Amino acid sequence: MITQVLPATPEALQMAAELLAKGELVAFPTETVYGLGAHALNRDAVPGIFAAKGRPADNPLIVHIWRREQLTDLCYVNPLAEKLMDAFWPGPLTIILPRKHTVPDTVTAGLDTVAVRLPSHPVAYELLKTCNLPIAAPSANRSGKPSPTAARHVYEDMQGRIPLIIDGGDCQVGVESTVVDCTGERVCILRPGGVTRQMLEEVAGPVTVAGSVLRPLQEGEKALSPGMRYQHYAPNGQVSLVEGEEQDVVAALKLLCRQAEENGHRACVMCFTEHVEMLQHCHPHDIGSKDCPEEVAHRLFDTLRRLDEENMDVIFSEVVPPEGVGLAVMNRLGRAAAFRAIEAGEVLASGRIR
Ligand code: TXA
Ligand code: MG
Repeated sequence: MITQVLPATPEALQMAAELLAKGELVAFPTETVYGLGAHALNRDAVPGIFAAKGRPADNPLIVHIWRREQLTDLCYVNPLAEKLMDAFWPGPLTIILPRKHTVPDTVTAGLDTVAVRLPSHPVAYELLKTCNLPIAAPSANRSGKPSPTAARHVYEDMQGRIPLIIDGGDCQVGVESTVVDCTGERVCILRPGGVTRQMLEEVAGPVTVAGSVLRPLQEGEKALSPGMRYQHYAPNGQVSLVEGEEQDVVAALKLLCRQAEENGHRACVMCFTEHVEMLQHCHPHDIGSKDCPEEVAHRLFDTLRRLDEENMDVIFSEVVPPEGVGLAVMNRLGRAAAFRAIEAGEVLASGRIR
């Protein structure tokens, strides 16, 4: 199959809408990451998503809409969910609600809930409006790879597997939507994203955060969001997070990188813009300003993909405080590192002894 990449002209969106109506797959930009769409209510179309991504069938999909009236076919809405929709839609918030049985089991992975989202990206909006269908769309990466934040990332992963990619430029947020369970009395964050805990609490009162957001699932622990079970976001090389006081971290990154190179590795660091110059001999990958977690979120997945392109096998990364959008960054970076963390102070202490 030849994969076309087209800019988001009205003609291209018309073509995309026709493909989707026929049950074919189309990748399109959203404000978070690129999605791989199929007609959500077409039982024959949805399995194609799992095949193209190599995604386990027990990981459910998010259904995208352009106006709330479409929810009637999908789920049962409650007052708590309505509050969130009023405040955050269109935008990077996915809401889990009790499903209706018009939604195929392949979309929900057999769960009695369905995830719904109304994105704010103008191209996503135009496409959803043009086809006027609910569109099931996971991130448009091969399963296990970082989510795509540019059309070229989608092409790398989906070339030959899907007929069309709509190119809408770089995604602004850069990490996937915040996923919240809204089936109970309280909002529960299953996956942190661009809509932060603080923002949700201002609208919906106290919010709980699933335990597995900043640590691996423990043995026997049930995944509230099935996607949390899989080894996500990890580049081929081994990533370690380096924590501690700013100056210690910079010094430890230098030492760790040098030691890894002496041991024959292709080593590099992921560091803040402010530290790039100090770390110029450590193949620095600039993840954005230390004062701007939004910028780090925006750049993270592109950086992780680049590490593989450069065949880096040992990577040391700075960390951001797990607050605001920083929680979403650390959720993804933690998984990329399999939660491997190094204390900068300890590295320096042992470095000095030797
Ligand atoms: O920003 C985003 O959310 C992007 C864009 C394309 O909209 N989509 C995305 O989809 O990230 P995906 O499939 O990569 O991630 C969806 C997450 C998975 O972790 C999945 O397990 C969870 O949402 N999910 C979907 N339906 C669910 C449900 N009914 N209950 C719990 N978790 C669910
Ligand atoms: Mg994904």
